[in-house]
Amino acid sequence: MEKKAKLIIGEDTYEFPIIEGSEGEKAIDFRKLRQATSHISFDPGFGNTGSCTSAITFINGEKGILRYRGIAIEELAEKATFVETAYLAIYGRLPLKQELADFSLNFTKHSMIHEDMKNLFKGYPAAAHPMGTLSAMVCALSSYYPELLKPEPTPEEIDTIAIELISKVRTLSAFSYKKSIGEPFVYPLHGLRYVANFLHMMFASPNSNYKIDEDIVKALETLLILHVDHEQNCSTSSVRLVGSSQANLFASASAGICALWGPLHGGANQKVIEMLQMIIDDGGNLDKYVAKAKDKESGFRLMGFGHRVYKNFDPRARIIKAKADIILNKLGIHDPLLDIAIKLEKVALSDDYFVERKLYPNVDFYSGIIYRAIGIPSKMFPVMFSIGRMPGWIAQWKEMIESKELKIGRPRQIYTGDNLREYVPIDKRK
Ligand code: ACO
Repeated sequence: MEKKAKLIIGEDTYEFPIIEGSEGEKAIDFRKLRQATSHISFDPGFGNTGSCTSAITFINGEKGILRYRGIAIEELAEKATFVETAYLAIYGRLPLKQELADFSLNFTKHSMIHEDMKNLFKGYPAAAHPMGTLSAMVCALSSYYPELLKPEPTPEEIDTIAIELISKVRTLSAFSYKKSIGEPFVYPLHGLRYVANFLHMMFASPNSNYKIDEDIVKALETLLILHVDHEQNCSTSSVRLVGSSQANLFASASAGICALWGPLHGGANQKVIEMLQMIIDDGGNLDKYVAKAKDKESGFRLMGFGHRVYKNFDPRARIIKAKADIILNKLGIHDPLLDIAIKLEKVALSDDYFVERKLYPNVDFYSGIIYRAIGIPSKMFPVMFSIGRMPGWIAQWKEMIESKELKIGRPRQIYTGDNLREYVPIDKRK
C-alpha cells in the first residue's frame, strides 16, 4: 500500500505522498502543499528540505558515509585519479580505458586560455583575493564561447563546456595566484597530467623549473577527489539555483565559486590555519579557545569543527588526517600547526559541549595543513576547493538540466514587515 503523510491544520486533514530514495531516505512530497492548504513550509537554512532528487552523491551523516555514484569515498581516494572521478561524477559510471584516455587528452588540449584573457588579469589589483578573480574569470570564459550559451544546450555542447571548465579552472586558478604574487604566468605543458600540470603552472617560473614529486601529486589528487561533490551544499545549491533560470553553465559555476568563498563553506580551511596560528601566537592555551567557542557571547567558533550533515564523523577528515602525516613526513616538514590541531581535536572531542552537539573535525580541519606543506598559500585554499568541486557542479547542473522536473528555483517567504500604509510627502515626514 502506498504510504501517505497526514497533515492536520485545524479541522482539516490533508494527505501527501511519501517518496523514498534508493538508500531508504524518505521525504514528504509537499509540492502541492500551498495549493492544497494555502500554507507553505518554513525551513530557513533548508535543513529539512529536499530541493531535488539526485543520483550523484549519497551521504549518511549519522554513519559517516560518502559515496559518489555508489562508490565509497575511501575506495576512490585510494584507487582513482581525479580525472577518473570527474568522469564518474558527470557520466554516472567509471570510464573505460579509451574513454579515460580521451577525457584526459581533452583536458590537455583545452588547458590554454584565450591570450586576450591575460588582459583581464592585468586589470585586477595584486591584492585581489584569488576567489574574486577566479569567479570573474570563469564567468568571463563564457564570452569566448557565444555559440555554447544556449538555454537548452545539446549533450555534446554540455560535454564541451565541461571540458573547457574543468581544464581551464586550473589554468585560471594558477594565473590568479601568479597575478597575486606579481610573477609572470606559466603556460600549461602538454606532457603533464591534470594535477602535475597545475603544480607546474603554480610553481614553475621562466627562470626555474618545478620538479614534479609523485607523492605531492597523489596527495593533491586525493584532496581534489574528496571535494568533487557533496550533494546539495551551499555552493552546489547556488549552481542549481542560478542554472534553474537556464543561465549558462559558465555563469552557474561562477556563482558556485562565489558561494564557496564564504568562511562557513569553502573559506573554512583558510580560517582553520589562521585560528591555529592565533592559538600558537597566544601561547597555545587550548582550553581558553575551547571555552571561547562554547561561549555564545564571544561569537567565536572552532573553525573546522561541525558539519550540517555529518553528525558522527566526516569520512573525508579521516582520509585527510592520514595523508597529512604521510606528506609531512615525506617532505621532512615539522609543522607546529599540525601538532596543535591534533591536540585541539583531542581536547574538543573530550568536551561535553562538542560531544553533545556532535561536533567533529570536518574536511577543512586538516586540508589546509597539507596545502601549506605543498607550498600553497592560505588565500588559495578555497581556490583549490573550486578546482576539486568543478566536476560536481557540472554533474549537478547537467542532472538538473536533463531532468524532466526542471523548474526555476524560487523559494517563498513569510512577510513580517509593515502592513499597507500611505506614502508621506517629504516635507510632512517626522
Ligand atoms: N564551534 C563551536 N560551536 C559550534 C560549532 C563550532 N565550530 N559549530 C556548531 N556549533 C554549535 C552551535 O553554536 C549550535 O549550538 P546550540 O545548539 O547551543 O545553539 C550547535 O553547535 C549547532 O550549530 P549550527 O550552527 O546550528 O549547525 P549548522 O549545521 O547550521 O552549521 C557549520 C554547520 C556551519 C559547519 C557549523 O558547524 C560551523 O560554523 N562550523 C565552523 C565552520 C566550518 O568549519 N565550516 C566548514 C564546513 S565543511 C565545508 O563547507 C566543506
